[in-house]
Amino acid sequence: MNSNQAPIRFTVIENDTIHQVSTHHGAYPNLMFLLKEEFLLESFGECGGVGRCATCLVTAKVITGDSLIKERNEPTTLERLGYIDESTRLSCQLYLTKDLNNAEITILEI
Ligand code: FES
Repeated sequence: MNSNQAPIRFTVIENDTIHQVSTHHGAYPNLMFLLKEEFLLESFGECGGVGRCATCLVTAKVITGDSLIKERNEPTTLERLGYIDESTRLSCQLYLTKDLNNAEITILEI
């Protein structure tokens, strides 16, 4: 098995229900698309993943590595909306990498 196909496993909490998710690198362009598809979230990710709409908000705990770094539009968008908590993230800016193994992702209502 090449490393791109290695399973990436994490927990998703949606409406107080805990789900175990298993995916792999490249299964979706980013976490937002996985959550939207797997949990049938209609108004989630409205800007298509450019980091501007903030309709893809999650709390992401126990992520590691480069995924901890907020880049591109993410810091500006979160600051504009008053989210200063380190764990509040735009799921469209989180990619399906080993950094998400064992993470706890909570889908936030906005
Ligand atoms: S999809 Fe719009 S900010 Fe993430």
